[in-house]
Amino acid sequence: MEGNSYLPQLARVVDIHEEVPGERAIKTFRLEFIDGDGFSHKCGQCAMLSIFGRGESMISIASSPLVHGYKQFSIMRAGRVTSAFHELAVGALVGIRGPFGNSFPVNDWHGKHLVFIGGGCGLAPIWPVIQTAVTKREDFGDITVFYGGRSPRDIMYRSELEKLRGAAEVYLSVDSPEDGWEEFCGFVPANLMEKEPSPEDAIAITCGPPAMIKFVIKNLHALGFQDEQIYTTVENKMKCGIGKCGRCNLGKDYVCTKGPVYSWADLKELPQEY
Ligand SMILES: Cc1cc2nc3c(=O)[nH]c(=O)nc-3n(C[C@H](O)[C@H](O)[C@H](O)COP(=O)(O)OP(=O)(O)OC[C@H]3O[C@@H](n4cnc5c(N)ncnc54)[C@H](O)[C@@H]3O)c2cc1C
Ligand code: FES
Repeated sequence: MEGNSYLPQLARVVDIHEEVPGERAIKTFRLEFIDGDGFSHKCGQCAMLSIFGRGESMISIASSPLVHGYKQFSIMRAGRVTSAFHELAVGALVGIRGPFGNSFPVNDWHGKHLVFIGGGCGLAPIWPVIQTAVTKREDFGDITVFYGGRSPRDIMYRSELEKLRGAAEVYLSVDSPEDGWEEFCGFVPANLMEKEPSPEDAIAITCGPPAMIKFVIKNLHALGFQDEQIYTTVENKMKCGIGKCGRCNLGKDYVCTKGPVYSWADLKELPQEY
């Protein structure tokens, strides 16, 4: 990033969409920079979003780098800062600094089949890759998206996921059965095993709760995926975002600068402190 890395730019909230209700509510915020385009980003990068007097939080940029003029963020209500975001109305001013972190090596995946596996709020960090792959459809092989939530109400990006069908195979799941749900009932890793995506010329990209990731990795291995074919993104707690405070370390790595995107081949060598 250029200039003073601690200085947020001003952005205006131009749209708010309620994705998921309840205790673990998720809202998607569309932000427009007050002065010009702000900054460009790559798939998998994050930004520090701030509300004056409440603090700042690291949030994945959930819009595709191919989209200009605004950036989108899906924020789960967790505590002080994220709850303050949930209280905002359209028109509010917030701070934004970034972009932070490395990115998914999307250009290296041209010609490959892409298998996305997301759970809960973990769809947001991989959504820019999905959007980029669908926009540049001819650059990739098959695109398959597995995504699950606790219940149908916990499925985020519901209408956008429906729009993907045709360009991508979309397999949704909920943990426990509910009346009217016609797709898979059970955990995301079980849905993955049932559909058995082939590892040949494929890359798997996964993000979700740590318990889900553990079993997704186990099942990808069972399907024949090698560690080098599996990518994920890590959400260690962060403060500065620029490798200065030591808050986000994973063994010798500061996740804010070395990550958050890792291949499983690299991540499995680090302490499992995420
Ligand atoms: C690289 C990265 C990407 C992220 N992307 C997103 C995203 O796209 N959407 C989103 O909603 N959240 C994302 N997070 C998590 C988000 O940063 C935290 O939920 C947020 O900072 C909590 O701030 P708070 O002030 O609301 O909560 P606090 O008042 O600070 O804490 C409330 C609770 O949340 C827990 N918590 C705080 N930070 C984290 C964290 N980093 N991971 C897990 N639990 C935490 C605390 O332990 C506490 O239990 C990301 C985090 C990182 C590091
Ligand atoms: S957040 Fe400060 S070193 Fe990573």
